[in-house]
Amino acid sequence: MRSLLFAAFCFAAGCTAQLASVDTYLSTEVPAAKAGLLANIGPSGSKSSGAKAGVIIASPSTSNPDYLYTWTRDAALVFKTLTQLYASSQDATLRTTLDDYVAAQTTLQQVSNPSGTVSTGGLGEPKFNVNLTAFTGAWGRPQRDGPALRATALIQYANWLISNGNTSYVTSKVWPVVKLDLDYTANYWNQSGFDLWEEVNSSSFFTTAAQLRALHEGATLATKLGQTSSASSYNAQIPNVYCFLQSYWNPTDKYVTSNTGGGRSGKDANSIIASIHTFDAAAGCDVTTFQPCSDKALANHKAYVDSFRSIYSINSGFASNAAVATGRYPEDVYYDGNPWYLTTFAAAEQLYDALTVWKSLGALNITSTSLAFFQQFSPSVTTGTYSSSSSTYTSLTSAIRNYADGFLAIAAEYTPSNGALAEQYEKKSGTPLSAADLTWSYAALVTANNARSGYTQASWGASGLTLPGTCVGNSGPTVAVTFNENASTVFGENIYITGSIDALSNWSTGDSLLLSSANYPVWSLTVNIPASTSFEYKYIRINNGSVTWESDPNRSYTTGASGSATIGDTWR
Ligand code: NOJ
Ligand code: NOJ
Repeated sequence: MRSLLFAAFCFAAGCTAQLASVDTYLSTEVPAAKAGLLANIGPSGSKSSGAKAGVIIASPSTSNPDYLYTWTRDAALVFKTLTQLYASSQDATLRTTLDDYVAAQTTLQQVSNPSGTVSTGGLGEPKFNVNLTAFTGAWGRPQRDGPALRATALIQYANWLISNGNTSYVTSKVWPVVKLDLDYTANYWNQSGFDLWEEVNSSSFFTTAAQLRALHEGATLATKLGQTSSASSYNAQIPNVYCFLQSYWNPTDKYVTSNTGGGRSGKDANSIIASIHTFDAAAGCDVTTFQPCSDKALANHKAYVDSFRSIYSINSGFASNAAVATGRYPEDVYYDGNPWYLTTFAAAEQLYDALTVWKSLGALNITSTSLAFFQQFSPSVTTGTYSSSSSTYTSLTSAIRNYADGFLAIAAEYTPSNGALAEQYEKKSGTPLSAADLTWSYAALVTANNARSGYTQASWGASGLTLPGTCVGNSGPTVAVTFNENASTVFGENIYITGSIDALSNWSTGDSLLLSSANYPVWSLTVNIPASTSFEYKYIRINNGSVTWESDPNRSYTTGASGSATIGDTWR
């Protein structure tokens, strides 16, 4: 009820009441969140429950759900927050914790686990026991965002250390961990894996965005440290990853389809969290790196938020342009599908980041892609560039600031008085739900608060990337499909395959692919075909230029999300 009043007041009176309440909330919640975060780090955090030094637990909850593990993703995002606090001199006491994390990750990388060893894919393992041993139960593995996120977190720390005269520690302790993570990323980015919510096995926007950032800033660090062959191997993959990142955009409905698989709408906090993770104020509103103020990221923000308006009853009664509670994605059924604190904070953070950049650019730009986002705040606004001296700029930016604060006000309403942040808050009552004291929830509040005060991290070089003129070739995960066709032939006659997709030359006969007769009469060829793709094909025989097709109908096949496949056919 409280936020309803705030929302109403907001439109009538410029949100004075809401601003006051958000400031009040943050004045107690930011210290509570920092304390909550530190309590979850071993060995001495008060809730770290036996975790080894430098191990960041996901939550002290040991049942319903059991989150007493360390996830590479959560820990890296939390570490990134810690370095933000440390490097911005908000907390100089964190140094030991940072170095403990470096040491713990050095150990963890070497732990053999169900995803493999350090050199056979084990870095994609999503979570470990808090005593630094492998978790061997069933899980959605591998998850390929972890190494990239950890690299980014450590690179941020490394850059701070280098500019503060400690390059030797970087070279001896930090770089070796970063290098393994980036080698993994360069090798495996093109293979499918589970998304950040550990459910969909495909390619995922957040993962690709994290990989792009890590490889780019990693190549820069490698160069700085004289690691030239690492730098060139990361640089070699960057155009491919960068191109692939563009392919998630849905131009018709104007949002990012967060996963290439999974059969969902694709509207997902995945993309919101990607935009804040890859935020680089120096890149302005660059759309190719999906900066928070880019037209695509703003259109996507609207599509994401709108997808929760009617599905949580705590959102009912709000104006269609008011901030509301948001969750992971609208189809979520985990704990029956509820809003999450960290996603609600992320919705605010993207907008604070956007405001910071518009302020530094002295203007904001509205395109046909972002028009609907801006019309939420001014139904009659039109496309164009509005300088900071215009009244349109002033009214839009103040409305957007209030809108961003609105997300914090919602979370504030459902934060218990002791400031504890669980994973979720229940969609009908707003009662905290699922894992208590989720470390990532605390980190998300801290970074949203920093963004609200205009804090920006050091540039990761987003503006120095060049998108290839045409994005061809490497477009995500493939499945190696072996076609075996049993066909007797006469001398001079060969068996070829052609089909409905690029990889099978689009039904061309002239460019059809020759099979090998090494195991005659079985003709054979392995083709890398995009994952999760349906296609049709046929074999043809060609003898001295004359083409004979197999009889109808066309053959068809759908690739899985990953791996390889073998198809056995017989000429007909
Ligand atoms: C646990 C995962 O952590 C969570 O993200 C997922 O939604 C559930 N398992 C159900 O798959
Ligand atoms: C479930 C979330 O979906 C996943 O993103 C997270 O890593 C784990 N819980 C641990 O917090």
